Amino acid sequence: MNVSGNKMLNAALLCMLSSIPSMAQKISFQDTSAFIRGLVSKMTLEEKAGQMTQLTVEMISERTAADSTKLTEPHRIDPVRLKRAVSDAKVGSILNMGGHTYTVKYWNEIQAAIRSEASKTRLKIPVLYGIDAIHGANYTVGATLYPQPINLAASFDATTTRKMAIQIAKEVKECGIPWDFSPVLDVGRDPRWPRFWETFGEDVLVVSEMGKATVEGYLEGGMQPCLKHYMGYSQPFSGKDRTPAMIPERQLREIFLPPFAEAIRSGAMTVMVNSAEINGIPVHADRHILTEILKEELNFQGFAVSDWDDIQYLYTRHKIASSYKDAVRIAVNAGIDMAMVPMDYHITKYLIELVNEGAIPQSRIDDAVSRILRVKIRAGLFGSLVPDDLSASSNSSSKAPVPPYNKQEHTNTSYRLAVKGLVLLKNENQVLPLKEGKIIVAGPTANSLNALNGGWTHTWQGRDETWNTKGKQTLAEALKSSPKITVQENGDVVVLCVGEQPYTEKEGDIEDLQLPADQRALIRKYKNENKKVVLVYIGGRPRTVADEADLCDAILWAGLPGDEGGRAIAAVLTGEENPSGRLPFTWPRHPSSHTTYDHKASEEVASGPGVSEFKPLFHFGDGLSYTSYEYSSLSTDKTRYAPGETIRLSVKVKNTGSRNGENVVLVYASDLVASITPPVKRLRAFSREPFNAGEERTLHFSIPVSKLSFIGREDKPVLEPGEFRISVGSMEKIITVGE
Ligand code: BGC
Repeated sequence: MNVSGNKMLNAALLCMLSSIPSMAQKISFQDTSAFIRGLVSKMTLEEKAGQMTQLTVEMISERTAADSTKLTEPHRIDPVRLKRAVSDAKVGSILNMGGHTYTVKYWNEIQAAIRSEASKTRLKIPVLYGIDAIHGANYTVGATLYPQPINLAASFDATTTRKMAIQIAKEVKECGIPWDFSPVLDVGRDPRWPRFWETFGEDVLVVSEMGKATVEGYLEGGMQPCLKHYMGYSQPFSGKDRTPAMIPERQLREIFLPPFAEAIRSGAMTVMVNSAEINGIPVHADRHILTEILKEELNFQGFAVSDWDDIQYLYTRHKIASSYKDAVRIAVNAGIDMAMVPMDYHITKYLIELVNEGAIPQSRIDDAVSRILRVKIRAGLFGSLVPDDLSASSNSSSKAPVPPYNKQEHTNTSYRLAVKGLVLLKNENQVLPLKEGKIIVAGPTANSLNALNGGWTHTWQGRDETWNTKGKQTLAEALKSSPKITVQENGDVVVLCVGEQPYTEKEGDIEDLQLPADQRALIRKYKNENKKVVLVYIGGRPRTVADEADLCDAILWAGLPGDEGGRAIAAVLTGEENPSGRLPFTWPRHPSSHTTYDHKASEEVASGPGVSEFKPLFHFGDGLSYTSYEYSSLSTDKTRYAPGETIRLSVKVKNTGSRNGENVVLVYASDLVASITPPVKRLRAFSREPFNAGEERTLHFSIPVSKLSFIGREDKPVLEPGEFRISVGSMEKIITVGE
């Protein structure tokens, strides 16, 4: 916010500041840190404990007369509960929605009520409101709903993802909300995990680049991102949500840390912590991960918020604390700055007691509160009276007013991203694009807008249809409105839509990665009827379809393409659009044979004819088009590089078909010999470029030699001299690293 952009808030601030003369002076004349120091020095322990407390909006919402645990419908803020939270308990943050999507107008009423209550408190510190807007303002009526992160990853298009993030920020800020619990920077290494689709896939570089694009976009649009779930959340041993992981420090640093480090370098100021345990230590209690790595090593100046109820769980679930109060002591001393409590006032009370008893140092509290205030300044909550002097804030536009936007432009971006993220994996005898004529549309995901959107859509689990965006088409509806084809009960071709209904978190745990038997049976049924089967997979995880995949004539992975997904899939099936997405994960053939593309060479050794050799159903990076591409002339500027140098690489790409298209180029490097068993290859660069039919162009990539390093025996990055294989498509080139 700036002066002109938020006159009302600034007027209120001026008024409040004039009632505290010394603070007004500090704000006008000194820098942010002085302002923070000044404010912290004025705060009582109760005010500090309140700042560290985050409650869910349910705690300030009206309940029904019949049942005090149920919220009224329509939702209403309860002034008595609001006063208890903000004025009495002095809470610093509120999150969530009370059940479902609200209008922009109502969101602003909620925010105004909270702001007004905060302005009645002694120090008038604004409340920071946060929301899970993970694929658009998904709790706002009529908001643009974009593809989910796994689809963005499949687009390999960081530029459009960044543009999308700016648009999301505008729509969320329009609701008066400055803080978004997004992006998820967990690396999707296990497709059983029910939050797999919330990730940007299995590759570290793709997650880092898409994460960076999202963070930059949110900041440019004036919204504070919250990186989650720091870190190592996405590879639980059992594949089930919030269950233990065993991840050695080397692997944590090689795979899970880099996307967070990159996003923090890009200006992100808040992280939400992994709810699970790693190597027997719940991350909410892990000082090494929260303080030593995050705050000391990465020099993170923002704050770490717990995940939902996770401090209490140290006692009730993880059994490493002897009481709820003991859990607070452990978590805050480990480095948690804000507790997403979210449904009681115990933590606030315990914090006060623990400081008075000397069990949490006052300095730890002051540090946590300073971090929270720093983010509030960065979010523009104090208005322009507090200059944001932190170096990472070159993006000071987080204070910009919400600029007017063109809704149609947002819809177009959502549609374009949906198209770019669709991955054509099989297309025998060119069954696609669909020829003019009659087709059957069948399967459990064919006529569901909810299935296209997934979880975190209007409601937490995304299953309730009541709040769906009006006028958006399911795939069946979009195909019916296509002039090219006629959808009816009979035909030679069936568009068979399988997959999953929405879910997230624990509710999405599964016992078996196989596509449910009734859906596999549908494939057999249509094949037995001699139909051509075009399988459209709509869902968050790659469920296995080993035998039935062979029966399909075409397979399109559609993932969770959002509100414009029905239109986008129909356009690809009918040939109006040319598919160009690439699989951002490895699609296993069998439920127990999952291995990522960057596996070790020993995983390719066959134990018998084809038994344990690496042969997924589809590979990371797979994706067909209605045109064809030829790669040639892979070359590097040199063959020998010193560690500080950059590899300049070029490759010729030609669209050899008769249709215009977009092509994703993936550049891999393989360390041929290393002191830690090297992965067979790692993605080191990628690009997406348009190519007209017949067009040939040379693409250039720069890869700093330092990027060829790995986490070595001492758990630190090492770059070992020797040979590396650079590969693009089927072309390879050997380079040497050495002085
Ligand atoms: C989820 C987070 C989410 C938070 C707030 C938790 O249960 O793990 O991803 O941001 O709830 O809704």
